[in-house]
Amino acid sequence: MAAIDILEVSKIYAGGVEAVKSVSIDIADGEFIVLVGPSGCGKSTLLRMVAGLEEISKGTVTIGGRRINDVEPADRDIAMVFQNYALYPHMTVYDNLAYGLKNRGTPKAEIDARVAEAARMLEIEPYLTRKPRALSGGQRQRVAMGRAIVRKPAAFLFDEPLSNLDAKLRVSMRGEIKQLQKRLGTTSLYVTHDQLEAMTLADRLVVLNGGRIEQIGRPLEVYHTPASTFVASFIGSPAMNLVQVTREGTRLHFGGQVLETGRLPPLPAELTLGIRAEDLRLAQPGDPSLRLKVEYIEELGAQRLVHGTVDGKTLTAALSPEIDIADTIALTVAPSRLHFFDTSTGKRITQPLDPAAGRRESATLPEPVLV
Ligand SMILES: Nc1ncnc2c1ncn2[C@@H]1O[C@H](COP(=O)(O)OP(=O)(O)O)[C@@H](O)[C@H]1O
Ligand SMILES: [Mg+2]
Repeated sequence: MAAIDILEVSKIYAGGVEAVKSVSIDIADGEFIVLVGPSGCGKSTLLRMVAGLEEISKGTVTIGGRRINDVEPADRDIAMVFQNYALYPHMTVYDNLAYGLKNRGTPKAEIDARVAEAARMLEIEPYLTRKPRALSGGQRQRVAMGRAIVRKPAAFLFDEPLSNLDAKLRVSMRGEIKQLQKRLGTTSLYVTHDQLEAMTLADRLVVLNGGRIEQIGRPLEVYHTPASTFVASFIGSPAMNLVQVTREGTRLHFGGQVLETGRLPPLPAELTLGIRAEDLRLAQPGDPSLRLKVEYIEELGAQRLVHGTVDGKTLTAALSPEIDIADTIALTVAPSRLHFFDTSTGKRITQPLDPAAGRRESATLPEPVLV
């Protein structure tokens, strides 16, 4: 096991495409880091540079304090798990698991012991004599994991390992990977475009956008205090509502409707307001509120997503399915739950409130008032 230090690493492909732009991530020993972002943002490129499958154009990567820029992939003491499993089709599961160890000249008894241990952990003991084609997708994924585990590497690198599985299997494999990583305590760098996978697996997640880091933080920290509109709309489902508003004193103008917040930090006159769908609540009679013209409703079972407009501005509210929805509904939100972004840069303006502070604030700040 080892810490991984990625320091100002860039990748410039032949032809001049700068896929990764001066990325720095300090990964602690045993930490589970998830790289998340849309397709093409440079996740695989960064992972492959750590693995040694791509040359590092600029910057330094150290694993366990050793600079590995020029170290051969096989000598980096890492194990990689890919989306397509990359199992040898003509070999049995046992041989797939044993292959890397055999190549390294590990004694037979040691190989047997490690394969048996990994197979037990992953519950694939009954399949050791089968070929990969005789396995389900989930079982193949387990074998791919097993091949990484038997190596007892300093770090695991995962590139979208669950993308080929159906939704239900993905959720259960996600849980297995998390538990396994906790048990083994192996430093892990995991790539996914799936924000839910990132939220549930990561000790800390790294949100990438166009080759640059938008934010690094613990999942809830990123969820509650997104550093930019990009992060706000990428992390969390449904995406955070982002509305252009004008500020006048402590009032926020949504076109014709006005939200009286009671108190605001220093803000420009024009800004982007962020509100999570789950922070909007149905106002009780007499409560201050915004009027939402309902356009359509999505029933999710546990929640009901109500999509509509406030003075032409699109807004989604996640409400309880028990509530009856009229054509126009009155919504309210605690001022402590409002997020403010600079409209031109997309960056967060105020220092965010942590969830505990948010609860304290909402107890002391007045509810918004519609004027
Ligand atoms: N071998 C390559 N040569 C040139 N450009 C590449 C190569 N591989 C990836 N890219 C480009 O680098 C960017 C990042 O790609 P990638 O790291 O695969 O993204 P992700 O894994 O986040 O989807 C993309 O614009 C992609 O087209
Ligand atoms: Mg990729």
